[in-house]
Parts: sequence; C-alpha cells; structure tokens
Amino acid sequence: MAEERMLITGGQRLEGAVRVSGGKNTAVAIIPAAILSQTPCVIENLPSIEDVHVSVETLQHLGAKVLWDPREGIMQVDASTINRTDVPLELCRRMRASSYYIGALLARFGEASVPLPGGCNIGRRPIDQHIKGMRMLGAEVEIVGGTVMARARDGLIGGDVFMDMVTVGGTINVMLAAACAQGITTIYNAAKEPHIVDTANFLNSMGCKVKGAGTDVIRVRGVSHLSSRRPYAVIPDQIETGTLMIAAAATHGDVTISGCIPTHMEALTAKLLEMGARVDERDDAIRVRSMGAHRGVTFKTQVYPGFPTDLQQPMSALLCTATGTSTVVENIFESRFRHLMEMERMGARVRLFEQTAVIEGVPQLHGAAVEASDLRAGAALVIAGLMAQGTTEISNTHYIDRGYEHLEDKLQGLGARISRVTY
Ligand code: EPZ
Repeated sequence: MAEERMLITGGQRLEGAVRVSGGKNTAVAIIPAAILSQTPCVIENLPSIEDVHVSVETLQHLGAKVLWDPREGIMQVDASTINRTDVPLELCRRMRASSYYIGALLARFGEASVPLPGGCNIGRRPIDQHIKGMRMLGAEVEIVGGTVMARARDGLIGGDVFMDMVTVGGTINVMLAAACAQGITTIYNAAKEPHIVDTANFLNSMGCKVKGAGTDVIRVRGVSHLSSRRPYAVIPDQIETGTLMIAAAATHGDVTISGCIPTHMEALTAKLLEMGARVDERDDAIRVRSMGAHRGVTFKTQVYPGFPTDLQQPMSALLCTATGTSTVVENIFESRFRHLMEMERMGARVRLFEQTAVIEGVPQLHGAAVEASDLRAGAALVIAGLMAQGTTEISNTHYIDRGYEHLEDKLQGLGARISRVTY
C-alpha cells in the first residue's frame, strides 16, 4: 500500500498571517450531539480532517442523512432517519471520540452499542467515568466482548454524577446523555475545557438547559425534545492555534494567527513570554514574534486552564533548542513523550523519567527520518523539522491528518518548505 511522508527542509523563518480552523475536539462532540435534534441541524466552521470524515461515516452508518461540504466546513445532519444504534468497531478504531455516540444514542433512542475505545499511543484511555455517569442516570450498562451495551428502556432520569477525576470526554458524554433525561443532572468535578462550553452552548441552542459549563459544576435540565433552530458555528481550534504559535517561535518568525480566541491560550502564552518570545493579543488574533534565543522553562500539563497536554508535545519539541535545561511533567497521559525519543535522532538531548522529561537545549537540530506515533507527536515532529538544519522526513502522516486541516498549505503560506511524497 502506498505510504505518504512529509518532507520538511528546516531553517526557514515563518512570517505572515494564517487563519485557524474550527476545533477538532469540539467538532467530534457536536456532530454526535446533532443526533439529539428532532429537526435537521446545520453545523458550521467544521474542519475538513479525518476525525470529521469518520464522524460523517458514523452518522451515515446509523442511517442519518448527512450533507457535508468540506470546502465550506458546513454540515447538515438529519437524524430523523436513524434506524440503528450500534457503531461498528472499524469506525471506533479510527476515531477515539466514538464513545460520545453512547451518550447521544442513549439519550435519543434509549439504547447504544459502541465498542470500547481501548488503549492508544498516548496511554490508557478508559471510559469508566462515562459509564458510571450513564448508570447514575439509570442506564443499564454492560460490557460484552469489548462492546459497551447501554440501555434505558424508560428513558434516563437526571441525577448527581461525581467524576473521580477531571475528564473531558466523561463530562461531555454525561452532558449528552442528560440532555433528554427527565429532571436535573448535576456533574461535579466537571472538566472546564473550551470544547465543554461549546458543546453546552450547542445543546442550549437546541433548547436544552445547561448551566455552569466552564466551571467544575454543570447542571443540565433535560428536555424531551431538542430541535435545532439556527446554524451553529464551532469555536476555533485551541490546539491548532497553539501549534502555530509554537511554530512561529520555533522558527524565530513573526506570525499573526487570526480567527482564534486568545483567552483560550493563556497557559501557552505565559510560557512563550517566559521563554523570551513576544506575544501580542487582539480580540480574535495573536501575533507571536521571536526576539532571539529562547530560554528553557519548566511546565506541567494540567486540566484547563492549565497547560494542555495536547500542546505538551509541540512545546517540548521547541524546548529542545532553548538554552539551558527544561523540565516537562506530563500529568494527564502516561506515554506522551515518544516524539522526544524520535527527536533524539535529530540531535535532541533528552532524559526521560516516567512522567518527566528533562531536556538539555542544543544549539541546532539536524534533519532525520522520524515516525509520528500519534496526532500531536506528529505536530511536534513538524515543529522539529521546521527548526532543523537539512531535511526531515516524517512517516505516519495519517495521524497528523486526523486533526490538522491543510497544515502543509498553512505552513507553506508562511514560508515553510514542506511537502508530501508518496512511496
Ligand atoms: C480529550 O480526550 C481530548 N480528546 C484529548 O485530545 C485530550 O488530550 C484530553 O481530552 C485531555 O485534555 C477529545 O476531546 C476528543 P480525558 P479524553 O477523559 O476525553 C483518565 C488530541 O490530541 N480517564 O480528559 O479521552 C484518562 O486516562 C486528543 O486532540 C479515566 O481514567 O481525555 C486520562 O488520564 C488526544 N477514566 C485523564 O482521565 C475515564 O473514564 C483525562 O482524560 C476517563 C478518563
């Protein structure tokens, strides 16, 4: 089978303006949420990425009518024709957020059969909190042969759900299930990420009553019928914005990222400032300028508004050429440092201790053949390639395509020498 690789000739300073796409992690939650609408629903500003294409296939498998215009980023979903409630393993394997179909199908049809997502290249991805939440709302949930079989014959009933840890997916899934439950559901220790707020806003736009999204207590008053009334545009991608900010600093460039939400970027902005870069914020744009050599820093990944785990990989790639020693602690997933092992081939000096990476900055990386192990590892290797002297060849580009829309075009527009070859 033909394999694609990305080729990057490093050393080009990125300069100019680039527009950020709609958020992946919002898109993969809002598309299944469209199942709850009794009327056709229009979603705008969706990125044309693999996870969205898989979401379309999933809805079509269920029997929904989907009109998807990837160029315009607009999708119309008519869920009234859904005639089954099982998601096949093949689709679940291709998209980790498939667990949201449990909450959405259970809420609308009182049953769902969805294979477990299993582990992945960044660590374990259990969904025990999602399942606990569904049970608290009265669902019977069993795992049969690796598939979650959930049922609520007489509908779900609102209740109190205390999350044992802060989980983005668990919070969204319980919100979806609670949207049509009888009475009030309260989610304690809820996640606060921007895509939680966006999913809540989408549910509210269809007549649901979600309050407190963005805080650690969310209350959902379920309604028996949700119906879409107007098109809903998803928020810009926080992680793509951050990746482009890091790319600007990594190439000692001057880049303005437009169409983003600067307040979502505070944790990264603070670290870039600490490293010596200049960051200027406007209402919906961020300009990142490099003012010379960067200083090494220490950071720990945390739930929002802390430093996001999804930006740890691109950021730790940047730190490989910062002066002095940097320390990175990954608190969310157990194996999210594989990109650094790959970067050792490019001359990076890294010591790994379980959840901690100690990075000794080197003046220059050199191009090498490297392999992406997951989406953000791929983004980190792109950053590394942009910084390195010579040519870097990245394999497993399909991971990058899962979450970045037109990444090469965007970077080329800023002056990067990046292309794709098929072997
Ligand atoms: C979401 O994953 C994102 N994915 C991830 O982005 C992101 O890395 C992660 O949140 C953390 O911010 C989507 O939004 C689609 P979690 P999710 O539930 O929901 C543990 C990317 O690169 N946990 O917040 O799966 C879990 O093991 C991706 O775009 C349980 O133990 O993450 C982890 O240690 C990768 N039991 C922690 O909680 C549960 O039931 C946080 O996971 C659920 C989670």
